[in-house]
Amino acid sequence: MERTFAIIKPDAVKKGYAGRVLARIEAAGFTVCTLRMIRMSKREAEGFYYVHRERPFFAGLTDFMSSGPCIVLCLEAPDAIKKWRDLMGATDPAKASDGTLRKEFGASIDNNATHGSDAPDTAAFELGYFFRGLELS
Ligand code: CDP
Ligand code: MG
Repeated sequence: MERTFAIIKPDAVKKGYAGRVLARIEAAGFTVCTLRMIRMSKREAEGFYYVHRERPFFAGLTDFMSSGPCIVLCLEAPDAIKKWRDLMGATDPAKASDGTLRKEFGASIDNNATHGSDAPDTAAFELGYFFRGLELS
């Protein structure tokens, strides 16, 4: 078993897609270990996306992620990190395969509906950024 960190991003929550994304998560066989709806501050979004701080899209990305409520989740499954990245699809919804969440629910590369950790070390950092150990037990 493996755990990964996921976000249903503010665009998807605002458009009323959260329930459908959760249904897809369950149908794909993930266990939702825990989840919470939060509204990130600009500083919290900057801390979360610290690895991207030098990128040209950093300011827009952190404005967007702090623009409204999102849902943060811990997902568990065999090979969960890759399994969740595969279900999300490519970063740019225009390049995402049919049947992926970003294809179905994303509008553009900056409004792409979902987030997922890309490796075991980032999953550990990202889970720890939003959840206490007790919530993940
Ligand atoms: O989310 P993912 O891991 O697929 O992509 P990333 O390269 O880690 O980028 C993080 C997020 O920044 C993406 O999900 C996009 O929302 C955003 N981004 C953007 O707005 N413009 C870009 N040119 C690249 C990424
Ligand atoms: Mg990433």
